[in-house]
Amino acid sequence: MATLFDALRIGSLTTPNRIFMAPLTRGRATREHVPTERMVRYYAQRASAGLIMTEATGISRQGLGWPYAPGLWTDEQCEAWKPVTAAVHAAGGRIFAQLWHMGRVVHPDYLGGGSPVSASATTAPFKAHTYDGRKPYAQARALDASELPGIVKDYVRAATNAMAAGFDGVQLHSANGYLLDQFLRDGSNQRTNSYGGSIENRVRLLREVAEAVAGVVGAERMGVRFSPNGESQGVDDRHPEELFPAAAKMLDAMGIAFLELREPGPDGTFGKTDVPKVSPRIRDVFTRPLVLNSDYTKQTADAAIASGLADAITFGRPFIANPDLPARLAKGAALAKDDMATWYTQGDEGYVDYGAEA
Ligand SMILES: Cc1cc2nc3c(=O)[nH]c(=O)nc-3n(C[C@H](O)[C@H](O)[C@H](O)COP(=O)(O)O)c2cc1C
Repeated sequence: MATLFDALRIGSLTTPNRIFMAPLTRGRATREHVPTERMVRYYAQRASAGLIMTEATGISRQGLGWPYAPGLWTDEQCEAWKPVTAAVHAAGGRIFAQLWHMGRVVHPDYLGGGSPVSASATTAPFKAHTYDGRKPYAQARALDASELPGIVKDYVRAATNAMAAGFDGVQLHSANGYLLDQFLRDGSNQRTNSYGGSIENRVRLLREVAEAVAGVVGAERMGVRFSPNGESQGVDDRHPEELFPAAAKMLDAMGIAFLELREPGPDGTFGKTDVPKVSPRIRDVFTRPLVLNSDYTKQTADAAIASGLADAITFGRPFIANPDLPARLAKGAALAKDDMATWYTQGDEGYVDYGAEA
């Protein structure tokens, strides 16, 4: 019976354990979205994870609306990721870049006052994080079908830069109410053309992006993240139990390295939902490594792997305060608690000052 501490083959890599680090936005890049030296230290400290997923990383100016989040669309950004990947590799780790287009949740402040883009002309609920505090979202402009090849090209450029920067692969961020999720789910996708309506049509942009990115990195070096159960940033679907298995099947046929599902439950401490988990249905149709996330403890993670529901687990908040999480879980040591007040601040505090267990 497999445990968290067994190796796992994912695509062309073998991970030494199944304790993966979930993507975590931390806001420690520059205002030009260039990775910084403290990010080198942060990721290297966490290299004992079976696999690190970076924080969400912008694929284009149009797609990034988070203060001090990193990007991968300029040469300067690409160069600045190189010390990060080199330090993780020198410390024995593996690291994928999570590629991000935020779609309608990019505030116009980031766009020189222009409109954000999405599947349809909708407005996200709540408020955006901007350099001048929280501001209400603006209504998105529906992307014209003629613009979609340009979005695909932006993903390809970012993926090409990721490989040039030394990443072991990329993860497409198709979760949490961002652009690809806005196309997938019928609450935000009200299109009636070939990218809207049927499941096949709503999955089309993801398929085109995944095929094009696989063309430059190899499908075996590409993962995808979904958040199938419940609303995310106002994005929801009436039939997630039909949509997401269909999307997973499409990615399975493409031969991707792994699929990661962020599935909060009713007992979740961050993003509670009563919507049933779709992972068992996805498990039935997705034959490759399935990675589950949200609110896992050592006990529940071991149980998910032992029961065959998951092949690996991504831990998010536990990795913030426990850089040596695999060693602590192996010993059954107490876990340090992260501090929400320093999740997105710019300094070392709450970022690189969590030591390994004494
Ligand atoms: C500070 C913070 C930043 C996050 N940033 C991202 C992100 O960049 N991309 C993403 O897909 N999910 C992001 N998430 C969600 C986490 O990856 C994860 O799904 C969530 O924390 C639940 O897992 P956990 O219970 O192990 O923490 C973030 C969560 C937190 C707490």
